[in-house]
Amino acid sequence: MTEKKFPDGFYWGAATASYQVEGGIYNTDWAKAATEGRVPVCGEACDHYNRYEADFDIAKSLGNTAHRLSVEWARIEPEEGKFNEEAIAHYRKVLQALHVRGLKPYVTLWHFTAPLWFTEAGGFERKDAPEVFARYSAYVVGQLSDLCEHFSTMNEPNVYGSNGWLRGSWPPFKRFVLTDLVSITNSGRQHESRASRGLAPVFLYFRVMKNLALAHNAAYRAIKKVSPSTEVSVVKHVIVFDATANPFYKIKAALANYFWTYKFMNRVADCCDQIGLNYYFYTQFGDKRQWRKTDMDWNFAPEHIYDAIMILARYKKPIFVSEGGIADAHDTGRAEYITKQVEGTWRAIQAGADVRGHMYWSLLDNYEWALGFEKRFGLVEINYETQERTIRPSAYVYKKIIEESRMLE
Ligand code: BGC
Repeated sequence: MTEKKFPDGFYWGAATASYQVEGGIYNTDWAKAATEGRVPVCGEACDHYNRYEADFDIAKSLGNTAHRLSVEWARIEPEEGKFNEEAIAHYRKVLQALHVRGLKPYVTLWHFTAPLWFTEAGGFERKDAPEVFARYSAYVVGQLSDLCEHFSTMNEPNVYGSNGWLRGSWPPFKRFVLTDLVSITNSGRQHESRASRGLAPVFLYFRVMKNLALAHNAAYRAIKKVSPSTEVSVVKHVIVFDATANPFYKIKAALANYFWTYKFMNRVADCCDQIGLNYYFYTQFGDKRQWRKTDMDWNFAPEHIYDAIMILARYKKPIFVSEGGIADAHDTGRAEYITKQVEGTWRAIQAGADVRGHMYWSLLDNYEWALGFEKRFGLVEINYETQERTIRPSAYVYKKIIEESRMLE
């Protein structure tokens, strides 16, 4: 039997995002929505802002060699065009703490939450949003590029656009009524806004999606001006839309893949040195199977990360798994989930995909957006009353895979 080994230099780690773990961020669209009772309060979250060193000690103890994190735009640019040096000094310390522990940083410049000054002036509906975002991106990379080789401009543009402008479950809560018929994800229905009967949210959604692509491309060019050697990626959420043999379902799946993944990627692929993949969903039109479910009520389908990677492989760029994981409060399925996800990644490499690394979502339990703190994605459990950290048993299974850099028999 051939040994299922990963390529030399393959890196392993876990991911987090600033708003979901840091705590103490109050000048964003999400923080404002929380004060209005539209989404749960994030508050101190995991207090990772103060505890990052101890958290990175845990990541290192789990064998990690890389770590994906994001920086908070609202901390760095609290007022339009005015940058906060203290925030930069903080993130420099965070990146140094990763280096000292031998963890290669992957920094995302913007992971869903945006400064209030930006969203209140129209956010990504704004015509000048791409320039505003590019200015911010270039500034951050200029300040941090000596400590980080790789930056992702943005996280999951399609999730951001569809939850905010079609489903109405995330700020700015614009909702198109027919979206309910096609949604397969669960992003917090209890906080939904009233649906608009007209098509206005749909037009705005398409405008936002276009601006996000332009924003990525503008940021890519601006970053390259300040730091030509910096690697730049976009982090793309890929839903695998599959179909039974029925031709009607095949067409439906092809359209869904186009609108969810290819349309955006076609616009930005030329401005990507690499592509980050976030994988959570597999769905098959016409499928009658009863799927086992995660705590998010999502299909338990980690092996289909293979299909997600192959969807992105057509862009012929290096790929890294920037997220993939399971909400599993009792840790009964996480070890199996991780093992199958890693195996699917290995198969994609055998099929020719250039995959460079794998990051589990998430290192820590955290604020799961409109669903609050109940869902537990962490390799590490957080007690939100005491901020105590407890490593879950499944984390040790991942550790063993990492240490051997191959699939365990
Ligand atoms: C996002 C994370 C989120 C995770 C689980 C991804 O869509 O990037 O912020 O917590 O999925 O829902």
